[in-house]
Amino acid sequence: MPTRYDIVGGRPLRGTLRVSGAKNAALKMIVAALIADGVTALRNVPRITDVEITLKLCEELGARYAWRDETTVEIDARRVNNPVIPLKYSGSTRTPILFVSPLLHRLGRAELTTIGGCSIGPRPINYHIAGLRQLGVVVEEVSRAAYRFHADQLQGNIITLEYPSVGATENLLMAAVGARGRTVIRNAAIEPEILNLAGMLQAMGAVVYQDVNRAWIVEGASRFRAVEYDVMDDRIEAASFAACAVATGGEVFVQGAIQRDMVTFLDWLRKVGGEFDIRPDGIRFYRHGKLRPVNLETDVHPGFMTDWQPPFVALLTQAEGISVVHETVYESRFGYVEALVSMGARIQLTNDCLGSRECRFTNKNYLHSALISGPTPLQGGELHIPDLRAGFAYVMAALLATGESRIYGTEFVQRGYADLIGKLRAIGAEIIETPAETVEPQ
Ligand code: EPZ
Repeated sequence: MPTRYDIVGGRPLRGTLRVSGAKNAALKMIVAALIADGVTALRNVPRITDVEITLKLCEELGARYAWRDETTVEIDARRVNNPVIPLKYSGSTRTPILFVSPLLHRLGRAELTTIGGCSIGPRPINYHIAGLRQLGVVVEEVSRAAYRFHADQLQGNIITLEYPSVGATENLLMAAVGARGRTVIRNAAIEPEILNLAGMLQAMGAVVYQDVNRAWIVEGASRFRAVEYDVMDDRIEAASFAACAVATGGEVFVQGAIQRDMVTFLDWLRKVGGEFDIRPDGIRFYRHGKLRPVNLETDVHPGFMTDWQPPFVALLTQAEGISVVHETVYESRFGYVEALVSMGARIQLTNDCLGSRECRFTNKNYLHSALISGPTPLQGGELHIPDLRAGFAYVMAALLATGESRIYGTEFVQRGYADLIGKLRAIGAEIIETPAETVEPQ
């Protein structure tokens, strides 16, 4: 049911909250559960729409699932029997392409009808397709974004990715664990969420490890056992709340913020003037004095995550001077900037690569660099969320703004942030969610 958030901002956020399990690890681990012919239990799974959609997709393929408690889900993959990843649910998420590898292991074939996800760029799947072909999978393109896959036995190979894509690396890891012989994936992604998935695959019986220079090495196996496994805490959520604490001049203890997974974020937060104390169970975020501008580029891990970028830009609207942010992962991840400008932010976008180096979008017509002049007071307004992380930037801008904001499109935020309202209230935010009946027509 569509809802809106009403937020009264302008006050420092103070208190303690606990982040949930990482969406971008949990989704892949749910998919990986289908590789084992048994009942997998995943702990610390966030209760968000993307997880529900992925579980429903599992069900459509013949699996069953049940929540054992609030954050532990059991996936019974013994009856996986349908190779067709259905159109239903698929249009809203990137996960369908990842089901291909488990289905190939279990059934020898898979059919993908379409693929969705946030509108932050074209997001093709060519690396997935090319890599699977190199592992001996026959891939037939039925129509745009619809494919048929077939393989009696996958065969290990040496694959070099054109770009360290997170999804392609995960897909190929899940394919390679069931391939005959050794697979090397070069120029691969090495995000902590992928390590979490690789750890689960290892627990299931695979030989899988990371080598130097962004390589993954996998030695295929033929039998996998169902396991009980923990999803890591969400470092995107942790960074989002950290940015809120520092931007509003408050002090928030984020339980589940793990230094090891957030080193780059913490460095940049400190450069801006944010402070933090590392504790065994989380990190306390605050600031002393004014915020400073920075020149920052997003990148694959261990660089500054693209998913940290929108809340960080909202933070930079409060820094004294001109900041530069060069987005190098997605072509179109500044869609939310217009709304921030309407609230009083001074942000200019350009097609140029404003960082220290060129990126894949050089000389293409993408507004992928931002100049942010601050500090600018923000005024509450009416906002319509275009995608998940942009949604958090809106919520954050509303928390910074004087006056009241009304935010529509909350379903985007609910895809990735579990109990956002509860967590924000725990740190003193004035936020209410209004049901659909009272949402005004746009
Ligand atoms: C994952 O998306 C995350 N999603 C994204 O988080 C995250 O922004 C992204 O990785 C980068 O860290 C999930 O884990 C569910 P990619 P993914 O393949 O795997 C291009 C969020 O807000 N590319 O690393 O889809 C692609 O277009 C979401 O939580 C190809 O060209 O990202 C993009 O420009 C949003 N061809 C770049 O690579 C391909 O075949 C990185 O994409 C695959 C990707």
